[in-house]
Amino acid sequence: MSNKGIIGVAGSGAMGSGIALVAASAGHHVLIFDANPLALDKAVSSINDILTKSVAKGKLTDDAGKLILDRIKTIDSVAGFSTCRLIIEAIIENIDIKKSLFKSIEAVVEPSCILATNTSSLSVVSVASACQNRGRVLGIHFFNPANLMPLVEIIPAFTTDENTVSQARAMIDSWGKITVLAKDTPGFIVNRIARPFYGEAIRIYEEGIADFATIDWAMKEFGGFKMGPFELMDFIGNDINYKVTETVWEQFFYDPRYRPSLTQKRLYEAGLFGRKSGRGYYNYGPDSSVPEPVKNEYLGKAIFTRVLVMLINEAVDALYLKIATASDIETSMMKGVNYPKGLLKWADEMGVDKVLSVLNSLQTDYQEDRYRPSLLLKKWQLKNLSSSTINHSRCLQSCDLFCRVPQFFQQAV
Ligand SMILES: NC(=O)c1ccc[n+]([C@@H]2O[C@H](COP(=O)([O-])OP(=O)(O)OC[C@H]3O[C@@H](n4cnc5c(N)ncnc54)[C@H](O)[C@@H]3O)[C@@H](O)[C@H]2O)c1
Repeated sequence: MSNKGIIGVAGSGAMGSGIALVAASAGHHVLIFDANPLALDKAVSSINDILTKSVAKGKLTDDAGKLILDRIKTIDSVAGFSTCRLIIEAIIENIDIKKSLFKSIEAVVEPSCILATNTSSLSVVSVASACQNRGRVLGIHFFNPANLMPLVEIIPAFTTDENTVSQARAMIDSWGKITVLAKDTPGFIVNRIARPFYGEAIRIYEEGIADFATIDWAMKEFGGFKMGPFELMDFIGNDINYKVTETVWEQFFYDPRYRPSLTQKRLYEAGLFGRKSGRGYYNYGPDSSVPEPVKNEYLGKAIFTRVLVMLINEAVDALYLKIATASDIETSMMKGVNYPKGLLKWADEMGVDKVLSVLNSLQTDYQEDRYRPSLLLKKWQLKNLSSSTINHSRCLQSCDLFCRVPQFFQQAV
């Protein structure tokens, strides 16, 4: 057996099977557990399929593929996790079920074993609260499909030991992933900052400004995004995307900036999940045709600008609230959701004056808190960082003490 340490994976669905494959490919022996034995069989067969395809494409030798598969074993109870060095939980997104699982896992593992949750939207500290030793619990958030997506968010909770964070991060780095550090707040980095890509696009549709195809065309044509918001929601699944939006909104104490849309809720209720159900915003049936966008440049640029400033506002606010460093925010959006460029860099290119003027006019028109600009954008404007285009490095550095101290206090001292 290798001396790399045994990795446990709890939950063998879409994420668990991908994570098991990543760990085994990095040379670890992996134990996977699922409450549903059929899910375990399915996971092993889907891992086998992926490896077989890699061998057929010449990316892997036959022997290497067999070795990876041999390293993965299924277990029928959490007692089998007793020798693991790190266990990553990827079961159903339900806080009570996750807490109960963590409690039962902690009862069988060594004191040095690190316990991680792959939750997309629940609080890591709340999961950790089920354990006696909360210092060993953190969030390790992979993206789907875990074997292909390079980004992993590392999320220490209030109670996580520093040693746990450094060990876990070093382990995931050694698997060839790109790790970023995120605060334990709703949506962490990517699922927080990306919300307007979906929400603002749906809002534009609901207002009758443009149809799905036109909005998708605008974001690809003028923003260089690989997929438009509606194509992407259909790809992710409207069930998953709607639930993440709803949970993030609830956990932000119903902040209107994150409010879900009725359009997506109705699709979710109707079971129109997207590609996997044959219909979502688009129809994927055999006789379906691809709708034509209205390729009007003025309209397209207006749509793109409105969505982009909302994304920039989220990224800048995440920086202001120290959810992550500037460079981790940039990396996250490019490696976690394939954005063509970092949003802070985009803010530089557009200029803070322009970003703020679009946000301010949206807020004036709609009189909604949804469009309130981040305080950090206003601070940047105050420092005249926007009169010409902001130098990117200055933009990153300018999240300094001055920017952090509200104007009232600056005047008072
Ligand atoms: N799907 C995504 O795009 C994605 C991305 C990142 C993170 N996540 C998170 O990863 C986790 C898993 O998501 P998924 O998409 O793989 O779900 P999934 O539905 O594909 O798989 C979940 C698995 O957990 C099993 N399970 C349920 N309760 C269990 C229990 N008590 N003990 C053991 N196994 C149990 C189920 O049988 C199922 O096989 C969730 O927390 C989700 O938020 C999902």
